[in-house]
Amino acid sequence: MKGYKISLARTLDAITFVSNLLLLLHLTSVTGEVGDSGIGQAMNEVEPHSGGNAGASGQRGRSCKLHSPAKVSRFQRLGKLVGTDKVDPHHGFHNVYPRYLDYLRWQPIKLLEIGFYKGSSIKLWMQYLRKAKIVSMDKMCVKGKEVCRGRMSTPHTQVLSSEELRRFSFHHKDQTIESDNADVCEKDGPFDVIIDDGAHTMVSIRTSLKVLLSCVKPGGYYIVEDLHTAYQAEYGGGFRSEDSVMNIFKEMMDVVNNRAFNKSYSVVPGDDRVSAVSCFPQICVVEITKG
Ligand SMILES: C[S@@+](CC[C@H](N)C(=O)[O-])C[C@H]1O[C@@H](n2cnc3c(N)ncnc32)[C@H](O)[C@@H]1O
Repeated sequence: MKGYKISLARTLDAITFVSNLLLLLHLTSVTGEVGDSGIGQAMNEVEPHSGGNAGASGQRGRSCKLHSPAKVSRFQRLGKLVGTDKVDPHHGFHNVYPRYLDYLRWQPIKLLEIGFYKGSSIKLWMQYLRKAKIVSMDKMCVKGKEVCRGRMSTPHTQVLSSEELRRFSFHHKDQTIESDNADVCEKDGPFDVIIDDGAHTMVSIRTSLKVLLSCVKPGGYYIVEDLHTAYQAEYGGGFRSEDSVMNIFKEMMDVVNNRAFNKSYSVVPGDDRVSAVSCFPQICVVEITKG
């Protein structure tokens, strides 16, 4: 049985290797690029010498040249290779994530993402954040739990290598249930980075934020994606609607700026630790004070 498991793990690693190789060849044939642009290179990437601190409270390396619109960042290249819509032009989150996460690429941080779907973004986090523990939470899986646990693939899902599996855990939970969010925080938190890419309804975003903002480490980030839904009635939102979660982010600005005058003003639990709120098209980033 043990020998069977080992050979199964080896087979899965071989499948991952071959599929990554095919993806790299595909990219090469489309763009003519090799060098430091693809998964193959990213996997063999050597850790740069770094004197930085571990965790999200370390020094930020916000290099301007990485974010020049003329250049394609590593994040964007990896995102295209794994097939996540985070780097699609209509989202453009590659214009946001590198400025917050590039300096954490070789740090042993912990990242929670709500929303597994086909595992594309999990594969992206694995390859972009090379020492991070990646935690996923989803109320359903494409084809059974084993797929969401990264142990099996379907033609459309990503399988994780054994090294990646050691850095991964999955929680079968519903983000609209407060106690489900709390369970994930208790079992795997606190986190340096939390990303909400789940149901995108106002109720789901509000429920997770209410519980999980306090589960972000000092110096960390709470990020909510796809906020165009805050303007759509079918997600419980609407332009300047009372129910839109954009009100939370706008009012958090009052918490941050008004703190010296009104210490008791609060919008969600844990916002007394918020140091900044930055919103870009369809995505908001809440920064937690370094402590
Ligand atoms: C946009 S997809 C996630 C995409 C993925 N992060 C990526 O970039 O590849 C949204 C996911 O949220 C999950 N989801 C929907 N409602 C949820 C809920 N109430 N709790 C947890 N997950 C939920 C869906 O099952 C789906 O897998």
